[in-house]
Amino acid sequence: MASFDWREHFAPFITYLQQSDQTHWGDLLTQQMIRRFEDAPHGDMTRWQSALDTLPEIDGGIANLNNSVVALTAPTPLHTAQDELLQQGLRGLMPWRKGPFNFFGTHIDTEWRSDWKWDRVAPHLADLNGRTILDVGCGSGYHCWRMAGAGARRVVGIDPGLLFMFQFLAVKRYLGEVSVDLLPVKMEDLPENLEMFDTTFSMGVLYHRRSPLDHLLELKGTLRRGGELVLETLVVDGPEGHSLMPEDRYGQMRNVWFLPSCPTLLRWLDRAGYRNARVVDVSVTSTDEQRQTDWMRFNSLADFLDPNDSSKTIEGYPGPKRATIIAEKP
Ligand SMILES: C[S@@+](CC[C@H](N)C(=O)[O-])C[C@H]1O[C@@H](n2cnc3c(N)ncnc32)[C@H](O)[C@@H]1O
Repeated sequence: MASFDWREHFAPFITYLQQSDQTHWGDLLTQQMIRRFEDAPHGDMTRWQSALDTLPEIDGGIANLNNSVVALTAPTPLHTAQDELLQQGLRGLMPWRKGPFNFFGTHIDTEWRSDWKWDRVAPHLADLNGRTILDVGCGSGYHCWRMAGAGARRVVGIDPGLLFMFQFLAVKRYLGEVSVDLLPVKMEDLPENLEMFDTTFSMGVLYHRRSPLDHLLELKGTLRRGGELVLETLVVDGPEGHSLMPEDRYGQMRNVWFLPSCPTLLRWLDRAGYRNARVVDVSVTSTDEQRQTDWMRFNSLADFLDPNDSSKTIEGYPGPKRATIIAEKP
């Protein structure tokens, strides 16, 4: 059984970095990948690699990246044997959390309707056509594909979750050469002050950071002058200065640190040196948007809310409400 050949997967991206005068990042990434995949490989890597290898060859696949469902289609119907391998491979990459996807007729109903988030965010973005984009905490890369569908020249997603990377590669293997990459690293692993992205997204990450101001400064460092930050995070109601720090878990999630009010968040962005920060959307997350499905069989939002009052989390905090903020780097 083949092991994960990170050199083959990341070689085109490392070449791109060399050609973009980012050799330092290429060298750093190489060291990080050696540590991650050679020195201390994840215990589930072999299983995920085997699921990826199970996916059948399908010639002439076409991707539609412009609709709610990121969809792959084939010029002719799959043979039964191909379909069986497809099911087996995709099931082997469960749980599927961020999507939805459709692989040659197999619809993957993911835990999250990530398309709903995209629909809330997309109308407020500067035109993505021709832009170089960073998506921090990109999960399976669902939004990266949508960014490519909106005309981005290059999209780089980063997320430390390795199952997400394999799910991303399941899509990518059918697409041939595309300028969309997912790197299995954290924000903190990037070189400081890259100043190379036209748009940087951070969606669903800020509340996982112990130091939110540092996260905002790191994000600013990734942007060129005039570049756009798209920040989406959990918020609570309240005046400027107010934020919630849960005692322990929030909606059963570990590692949740700060849920600011919108005015507080705008103040943080101002102090971090952004300009023209504005709230473009605030939405309560519903159990229609995040739920258990056939492709994600663990507990989901309905299990994390107070059974007697669904406006509260099971710990008694205000239920999940998310804000999207757009700001520019001067
Ligand atoms: C709530 S999910 C959001 C996924 C996607 N951006 C979305 O909005 O649907 C948060 C993601 O951030 C990733 N993450 C957590 N800490 C991170 C860090 N320090 N740097 C980069 N990604 C991180 C997690 O692995 C997870 O996939």
